[in-house]
Amino acid sequence: MKNLGILLSGRGSNFVAIADSVDAGRIPNAQISIVISNRADAPGIETAKERGLKTLVIPSKGKPREAHDQEVVAALQDHKVDLVCLAGYMRLLSPWFVQQFPQRILNIHPSLLPSFPGLEAQEQAFAYGVKVSGCTVHFVDEELDHGAIIVQKTVPVLDSDDEHTLAARILEQEHIAYTEAIKILLEGKYEVAGRRLVGLQKSEVRMQK
Ligand code: GAR
Repeated sequence: MKNLGILLSGRGSNFVAIADSVDAGRIPNAQISIVISNRADAPGIETAKERGLKTLVIPSKGKPREAHDQEVVAALQDHKVDLVCLAGYMRLLSPWFVQQFPQRILNIHPSLLPSFPGLEAQEQAFAYGVKVSGCTVHFVDEELDHGAIIVQKTVPVLDSDDEHTLAARILEQEHIAYTEAIKILLEGKYEVAGRRLVGLQKSEVRMQK
């Protein structure tokens, strides 16, 4: 059984999608061992409590980044987390944090990276006038919205869209993409060559072991 640790700061719809996938067996042999928020008022943390999951609020306000990260990493280690899933966690992780879980931290971003990193990616894409946008699940490295890509989903931008309708259709794909990415990682049938994550055949997986 693999333990997932969820970090969130807000609404938590990606967390709910992951929790639903775990409950439905779409992510087999996994459980959510801890849900952590840096904000006490994050709706996602209430939802996690209602679902009977273990939750922790570790406030970040007014703390140096490293000190806050040390508390979060200690909590993840206490709960024997194998895979850290950032689900709307609006904090940049320190390099030290990233090094504690090498290629074991995932993030979801609402654009086709490397386009439109940072805040309000859907609005950025809409205002730029792209005809296709989407979402990206990627490994977290020391740079913002930057690590190797695990799954991307495309979403067409319609003439009738505004920022909100586009963001809503991207969010539907985010929920699908995150489950796929977690499954790929937990199954371990991949290798990362440079920035490219490529799937392996069963025979290749055996040869690697
Ligand atoms: C999601 O759209 C996620 O992709 C985005 O925040 C939202 C959180 O929603 N994350 C980023 O922009 C990270 N750079 P949720 O709380 O409902 O999952």
